[in-house]
Amino acid sequence: MEVIICRDAAEVAHVAADVFEEYVRGPRPTTFGLATGSTPVALYRELIRRHKEEDLSFAGITVFLLDEYVGLPRDHEQSYYRTIRREFTEHVDLNDDEVHSPDGRADNPGDAARAYDESIKQAGGVDVQLLGIGTDGHIGFNEPGSSLASRTRIKTLHPQTIEDNARFFDSPDDVPVHVLTQGLGTISEARHVVLLATGEGKAEAIAAAVEGPVSAFSPGSALQLHPHVTVIVDEEAASKLKFGKYYRFAYEHKPEWQRF
Ligand code: PGA
Repeated sequence: MEVIICRDAAEVAHVAADVFEEYVRGPRPTTFGLATGSTPVALYRELIRRHKEEDLSFAGITVFLLDEYVGLPRDHEQSYYRTIRREFTEHVDLNDDEVHSPDGRADNPGDAARAYDESIKQAGGVDVQLLGIGTDGHIGFNEPGSSLASRTRIKTLHPQTIEDNARFFDSPDDVPVHVLTQGLGTISEARHVVLLATGEGKAEAIAAAVEGPVSAFSPGSALQLHPHVTVIVDEEAASKLKFGKYYRFAYEHKPEWQRF
């Protein structure tokens, strides 16, 4: 696991954009796993800027979103179907048909979840998966207690997550209680995972994910079993890491050839 500690949120977005740019400019079409929430917004802005000012083309890229609320109409402003389009994909040359998300309106959410998991496999899997982390340590919407082997399925949000996400809705009562989310097992099949976190509110979750024991009660810690993870955090989100000095030392001495 590589941990990159940045000065601030702007630098987090910049370094993360460098990772994604490397894939986009790589030799073959890439499949992105994308996340919604506040943390990736600055990264998406930077990628849009590079598209407009530096000819970074996303043509040929396929996208799979991590999760979706159950019961929100697709065109609801807070559905993740809409959010990823508003925040990122409709501002670049990504083919809208190639932007996939779980169907939160399906009559049978269990079937929709299994079909989504299968569609990721059929597409050849995710090359680079972007993640945020919840204050309670969730990745995707895998709340504490999620099986480390879980697949895409329906989950019940923790009241803390509902409270955290209420800022996007008129009232906490409007936040759906259920979601479809890629499981920890599904996420772990991505070939490269990039986890972003900014702000002090994420410090405990980051310390538990990176340095705590591997445990279903710290869903981000599942990434310790993954061979290729890049954690990009600002100083505040890094503030509870015990090995911060070492991560800085390693990054300062990173060989040029190693890339991400
Ligand atoms: P945030 O959410 O980026 O809005 O803080 C992260 C998450 O819940 O995974």
